[in-house]
Amino acid sequence: MNPIANDLRQQGYSQTADFVSAGMIAALRNELNGLRTAGQFKRAGVGPVKAVNDQVRHDEVFWFHDPALSETQCKFLAPIDEIKNTINRELFLGLSHHEFHYAHYPAGGFYARHWDNLRGTGKRKISLALYLNQDWHEADGGQLRLYLPAGPVDVAPRAGTLICFLSEEIEHEVLESFAPRESVTGWFRTA
Ligand code: OGA
Ligand code: MN
Repeated sequence: MNPIANDLRQQGYSQTADFVSAGMIAALRNELNGLRTAGQFKRAGVGPVKAVNDQVRHDEVFWFHDPALSETQCKFLAPIDEIKNTINRELFLGLSHHEFHYAHYPAGGFYARHWDNLRGTGKRKISLALYLNQDWHEADGGQLRLYLPAGPVDVAPRAGTLICFLSEEIEHEVLESFAPRESVTGWFRTA
């Protein structure tokens, strides 16, 4: 069985170090920075009307637009789509499409404990994040904390690490980040 599919089945999440090359990380970071400088990022909201709420989350995001993907975005999505197909083949989740955005947390930013999808209510089945933070240190914070039945597990947002987890099974939060924190984050959905 594919290791990511196997991890998802056994423990509900999977962590892969160095999922993409250093060159790919640099290309994603460059594109992210260019889009932010050009004013293309928007504060992410919460709840049904996507209201900005400083008590809950601080990130700014740029959504990938499917008909207008950049070359870098396409290169990132190719192996991601392979994972989706593998998960479908091995876990029968019936995933049909993906949605992804760049995310930037400023220093002092966090995302309070939450579910990406309340069980049985939505179409997000697998949550994914590829981290882009070069030279990340423990003191920089910004770990992703997964609340598992056996207790919390913290994931360091180190450049190249891909985390994926079952959106309906794992409550999670982004701990306060003391340095800017960047990622590509997204979901596999059912139709
Ligand atoms: C989210 C989220 C986790 C992360 O955007 O819903 O939980 O590590 N992100 O960025
Ligand atoms: Mn989340």
